[in-house]
Amino acid sequence: MGDWSSSFVVCFSVFFSSALFLLLSRWRSSYRKLPPGPPGWPIIGNLLDLGHASHQTLTRLRDKYGDVIWLKLGALNTMVNVSTKAATELFKNHDLAFADRTLTVLMCVLQDFHKVSVALAPYGSYWRIMRRLVSTDMLTVRRINETVSVRRKCLDNMLMWIEEEARRKPGQAIHIARFVFLLGFNLSGNLMLSRDLVDPQSKEVSEFFEAVNRAMETLGYANMADYFPWLRWLDPQGLEKKMKKIQGQVIEIASNLVRERIKEKKWAAGEERKKDFLDLLLEHRGNSKDELDKLSDHEVTIFILEFFTAGGETTSSSIEWAMTELLRHPEVLTKAKAELADVVGPNRKLEEADIDSLPYLNAVVKETLRLHPPLPFLVPRKAIEDTNFMGYNIPKNTQVLVNVWATGRDPKMWDDPWSFKPERFLGLKTDYKGQNFELIPFGAGRRICAGLPLAHRMLHLVLGSLLHHFDWELENGITTETVNMEDRLAVAMRKLQPLLAIPKITATTTST
Ligand code: HEM
Repeated sequence: MGDWSSSFVVCFSVFFSSALFLLLSRWRSSYRKLPPGPPGWPIIGNLLDLGHASHQTLTRLRDKYGDVIWLKLGALNTMVNVSTKAATELFKNHDLAFADRTLTVLMCVLQDFHKVSVALAPYGSYWRIMRRLVSTDMLTVRRINETVSVRRKCLDNMLMWIEEEARRKPGQAIHIARFVFLLGFNLSGNLMLSRDLVDPQSKEVSEFFEAVNRAMETLGYANMADYFPWLRWLDPQGLEKKMKKIQGQVIEIASNLVRERIKEKKWAAGEERKKDFLDLLLEHRGNSKDELDKLSDHEVTIFILEFFTAGGETTSSSIEWAMTELLRHPEVLTKAKAELADVVGPNRKLEEADIDSLPYLNAVVKETLRLHPPLPFLVPRKAIEDTNFMGYNIPKNTQVLVNVWATGRDPKMWDDPWSFKPERFLGLKTDYKGQNFELIPFGAGRRICAGLPLAHRMLHLVLGSLLHHFDWELENGITTETVNMEDRLAVAMRKLQPLLAIPKITATTTST
């Protein structure tokens, strides 16, 4: 009997407190005038409503709730913009109010990473100085033009690795994204440190590659401590502990690489060599009277490290999706190859200077990024202050997401939005540089991707070269109808099942 009564008391208390919580949150929403959204459960809020593909669930919820959706993810208030109208309003009229980043526990584990990284730093004077350094010194069109030969070298390596595979194991499928990821990593090493980082002979380098990979993988896990801050001390999934260990390895190897480079720089004084990013960073540090002078060696290492992580996953996942769509749509693949044959011809390689003369390839890249943006929620923003947005009162510190997977499929902006049709872009001025809010895979406003000019070149150069150099077929047993198109959201949105495709040597492969 005693058991029954205590169970009753517990059940009643749970029921009563849940009802009270729901009433209170309803009352608070109407008082604060928050956007509409699914009601959610006490304590966990909407965490269980979103499923493993939250970008897709939220796109479906647009029909019910409209342009802006309010979510409670545990204790984390979240506003999601799911239409082009809401994205336009955000970037045109409220970009400043939402210019901070929402940081996860794991982002803050990396010793000061969140303070030093351009992508994560709070909006303020430090971010402004570093962003200016990146946008006006490191990643300008002039500077990017100066490093054409570096990209050529890294790309040629990748084509050579694929060709070797195709010759060694004819008819065997390869995991394209892995080759593109290695290319990106090697390119970062060359641009940042003037060093080949995919050197099979170097133990240190392959350890670095593996450790960065593990860190990115761990960052992609949903961590309960982000939604229930009172659980942080418990580290319920052990992710913080794991991240601390990996991060220690990554920082140690990266700082050795930076130290080695600085030593070599001293030895090579007077020698003519193209400046790399580390040169530029150290030069600025030496000459300026501003905050750059306060950067410690550790912070320089973190800055360099950021560039290893920023472009790799995003670029390789975009190429993987582009190749998948092309292999599912043979008529599009044929047209893209025909354009390359026409403009580049069979006897030379695709060059960066060709990119503007390839409208169909440009359309394929835009269509891929419209349907498969690698960061479907951009990099999460945060409300710096209480803000009135589209008639709603958004409290300070709210996490602000722009679902570009949804805006890319906004039926008010796109005809037949779910189909892959690069032709829609031919003769259209729409691009992804942050002015056309229906197509913003690189974001927009103050915190638009700082690597956009470099990424634009790499996407066309890599995709175009893969198509120009080889013929491609789906792996045995897979047809255009049976290719798996499910995605998996980690740091970037990848294919759930990696694309495996067979490269075939052609007359172009052997003549270029
Ligand atoms: C396909 C390739 C890429 C895609 C789709 C992409 C996408 C993005 C997105 C969506 C953001 C957040 C924008 C916002 O909040 O509005 C971002 C930020 C950033 N990206 Fe990229 N990115 C790519 C490649 C790169 C590359 C190659 C680099 C560097 C070499 C880079 C460096 C950065 C940096 C530093 C930021 C932070 C900007 C800031 O907060 O001020 N990205 N990127």
